[in-house]
Amino acid sequence: MLKSHPCGGLTGKEIGNQVVLCGWVQRKRDHGGVTFIDLRDRSGIVQVVFDPRECGQEVATLAREVGSEWVLKVSGVVHRRPPGTENPRLATGEIEVRAQEATVLNPASPLPFPVRDDVKGVDEILRLKYRYLDLRRPAMRQALELRHRFTKAVRDFMDQQGFWEVETPILWKHTPEGAREFLVPSRLHPGRFFVLPQSPQIAKQLLMVAGVEKYFQIARCLRDEDPRADRQPEFTQIDVEMSFVTADDIYELVEGLLSYALKVAAGRDIPTPFLKMSYQEAMTRYGSDKPDIRFGLLVEDVTDILKESSFRAFSDTVREGGIIRGLFVPGLETLGRKDLAELTELTKRAGAKGLATIPIGDRQQESLVARFLTEKEKEALASRFGSERPGWILLVADQADRVEEAVGLLRLKLARHRKLVPERCSQELAFLWIVDRPLLEWDAREERYVPLHHPFTSPFPEDIPLLEEGVRMLETGRGEKKGSPDHPLRRVRAYAYDIVLNGYEIGGGSIRIHDRSLQELVFRAIELPREEAKRKFGFLLEAFEYGAPPHGGIALGLDRILAVLCDAEQTDPDSGLPYLNIREVIAFPKTSTMADPLTGAPTPVDEKVLKEQHITLVPEVWAKVQQEAGGIGESNE
Ligand code: AMO
Ligand code: AMP
Repeated sequence: MLKSHPCGGLTGKEIGNQVVLCGWVQRKRDHGGVTFIDLRDRSGIVQVVFDPRECGQEVATLAREVGSEWVLKVSGVVHRRPPGTENPRLATGEIEVRAQEATVLNPASPLPFPVRDDVKGVDEILRLKYRYLDLRRPAMRQALELRHRFTKAVRDFMDQQGFWEVETPILWKHTPEGAREFLVPSRLHPGRFFVLPQSPQIAKQLLMVAGVEKYFQIARCLRDEDPRADRQPEFTQIDVEMSFVTADDIYELVEGLLSYALKVAAGRDIPTPFLKMSYQEAMTRYGSDKPDIRFGLLVEDVTDILKESSFRAFSDTVREGGIIRGLFVPGLETLGRKDLAELTELTKRAGAKGLATIPIGDRQQESLVARFLTEKEKEALASRFGSERPGWILLVADQADRVEEAVGLLRLKLARHRKLVPERCSQELAFLWIVDRPLLEWDAREERYVPLHHPFTSPFPEDIPLLEEGVRMLETGRGEKKGSPDHPLRRVRAYAYDIVLNGYEIGGGSIRIHDRSLQELVFRAIELPREEAKRKFGFLLEAFEYGAPPHGGIALGLDRILAVLCDAEQTDPDSGLPYLNIREVIAFPKTSTMADPLTGAPTPVDEKVLKEQHITLVPEVWAKVQQEAGGIGESNE
């Protein structure tokens, strides 16, 4: 190599040795004719001293003239820094390199933003446009390295456990259900399309039929969804499928995998087994299907206490089938008028009608709702929340789904407001399994039951009779009305599990259906006609005819796990809610508007290319593209 040592790897052991370094100019200072350059490469920074008495006038002049991010090659000798000039914040802070020779390998243009972590307020679009500069920053470099170490540890662990990594196709078949897919026109088959896979789901099940038994893949998944901070159109899963297993085997495998990879890649010890919580408990006590269990603030139901309240918002809501739930926040002084207004705003965002703020202790006059409550009701509330001390009871009355969402968001915001969670989200890692989800949910718009996961998820073995009963009711029109909350089809539990980390869903999976008659029963429950099922998934159903083993699996969202480890949690300025910005752990992500500022993609393509793919744009789109021609494509010039 052109260099003998990494800049950041030099220590006191090298004192007296001749070294050759290559790197970028991080910083330059002049002190009475002597130039100090912080030279940076992937490994870190070292101070290089250009003293004309040692390196000669010519090299000293060169050092004076270089700019930020110029690429230099320097040779010199490692010295202990003079006493009092050591820098304990730098790994190499004990030493410096006194230059003898230097060459400019490449100069650099003035930068759009400085290559430093402590620069606030650089627009993310600008960072993405110059991602190759952004990635030079230590935090981003660390994220890339952690990602590499983590995936390497995953591969090592899975290999030790006897898994084979098998690549599955990127050109795949369109199937309904689930996220919207990206289409790929087929040049050789006019009018036909491949799609990019949303996940290797079907392929990995076929691998089980193929007898692979233990499959995994660090798999790229593509979903044409509206991007959000914690969602990207292309993201990576640690995808796993196993034959002859129960859910317990999957839990054990994933717990082993995560504790190994976290230890090896990040030096973290995490306790196993992880806690398990039913979906029902998560929704009622935490107002979320992905609860953050690092703090309490548990939700209480008070419908029974307030159903006959003289406060109409409560009694009317209960009469209309709604519920009342809320939280207790200790300390009256913890929430001021402005905080209460913000919390109310947040509940409205969740679509709920409002937030009742009830002081326990003094300040009764400040609450309109409190004036409507009897002493008895207030006492019952205080005792339900176990609140001996003064504080605020915050209540939401509405239909159950809105109440759940609203109180769930309140919990998250209050935890930040009251500093119940560490500022850096990597500090404490709270893993949790969510089990016993319903198999199906009622889709009011389509007026049918749809799978909560995917249609190959097995029902809980004990719940199969319930599924049979539900399908009978559906098909005969007798018994419970379709869609009613008590319909047996809504009570069938899925043999599925989700995994949550610090309030973020980092994975999900299930034990699959391997039996044709059970599969058909599920298709009937979701009213997917046999012919249609055959057309859409025929190849999979056929595969299941040839001795499919019982199997199950899971997919972990690699980007989200890494985002938590890299403290990529941010707070939405409008709502005060936390979110994970997974772009911080992806080398070249898309923006939130689904574009790539670096390359300018997506771009229009030549008419010739379109023609070859048998594509004609609708006239309005074509006109718009023509009009913008140059616009998008040249935005990068
Ligand atoms: P699912 O769709 O739940 O399951 O995905 C598994 C995990 O992948 C992550 N994830 C995402 N991460 C970033 N951007 C996205 N757009 C995105 N979508 C999902 C989440 C999620 O928990 N085939 C099934 C798994 C199985 O049943 O084995 C699947 O894909 O962390
Ligand atoms: P209003 O009568 O709508 O002005 O509401 C008076 C107070 O009751 C306000 O503090 C509202 O936020 C609260 N409130 C109204 N409706 C509800 C509801 N459905 N759940 C909880 N609080 C409510």
